[in-house]
Amino acid sequence: PLTEPTSPPLPKAELHLHIEGTLEPGLAFELARRNGVELPFADEDALRAAYSFDGLQSFLDLYYALMAVLRTADDFTELADAYLARARQQGVRHAEIFFDPQAHTARGVPIGTVIEGLSRALDRAPETYGISTRLILCFLRDASAEEALETFDSARPYLDRITAVGLDSAEVGNPPSKFREVFARARNAGLRCVAHAGEEGPPSYVWEALDVLGVDRVDHGVRCLEDDTLVARLAAEQIPLTVCPLSNVTLRVVDRLADHPLPAMLDAGLLVTVNSDDPAYFGGYVDDNFRAIREDLGLGEEQLRTLARNSFRASFLDAAGRDALI
Ligand code: HPA
Ligand code: ZN
Repeated sequence: PLTEPTSPPLPKAELHLHIEGTLEPGLAFELARRNGVELPFADEDALRAAYSFDGLQSFLDLYYALMAVLRTADDFTELADAYLARARQQGVRHAEIFFDPQAHTARGVPIGTVIEGLSRALDRAPETYGISTRLILCFLRDASAEEALETFDSARPYLDRITAVGLDSAEVGNPPSKFREVFARARNAGLRCVAHAGEEGPPSYVWEALDVLGVDRVDHGVRCLEDDTLVARLAAEQIPLTVCPLSNVTLRVVDRLADHPLPAMLDAGLLVTVNSDDPAYFGGYVDDNFRAIREDLGLGEEQLRTLARNSFRASFLDAAGRDALI
């Protein structure tokens, strides 16, 4: 029967996960109390009632507002621990985790506090949760290129804990080419590169992510399907796309999950993975996404296994680490 959960969950890697997007209402209110931060919501139910979005920007407004409760290194440790505990239940064996330093430094929280706090949870994750991790530092694309450069320079003391840089926040009007210089700097420092592109933005942003930023993976990328030449390039080079089905429904990238282009992407030979993006906001963690696409897109066990295998292939693990998990 279609409603039966995949149990136990398939072992998988999660490659598109904003740690700030794992902030559940319960923890948000607990941290608000602890830190003396006033939230513009009476209680958890009132907050949950605000989780109705008409696009990326309306989500981002709430996402940045709620982050005000994250103040100390311990807060970031608790946030990451809560995610890792849930990820384990969802079959995650490896997680490559985004964080948004500018969303915190803008509020007076030093980048070192954020990275130290997250690292405390991530460093013990292999023993505690059986999950290996990597950190991906994202630049906010609706802030200036200059600010991204300053952010990267402020992260230099911590680069041994950073695997890649990424690009997120409001996409339309902020093309990848705006960040040519900071991505070149990151690559020179030995980091890998990813970027959100083709979520709300056009296929030309995916081209720019590839050709101007030199990304190793494209985050979302679903709008590539509007450009056959682009699809052929992504398929030929097996450039991974980190697709987030429940996110795409909640942020109205697609009308209904049943309309999601994931099956078409698989048919086109693209290296697609399934991820949760901001699971506290979008109605599910990564295996919840797997279960939803199984039910609403009618994907079979073989395709779900392909998606899980793709997640390891698309990861930044080296060949030995990958083979150990597949
Ligand atoms: N898109 C862009 N920026 C983001 C997202 C997203 O889905 N989630 C958190 N920041
Ligand atoms: Zn995202």
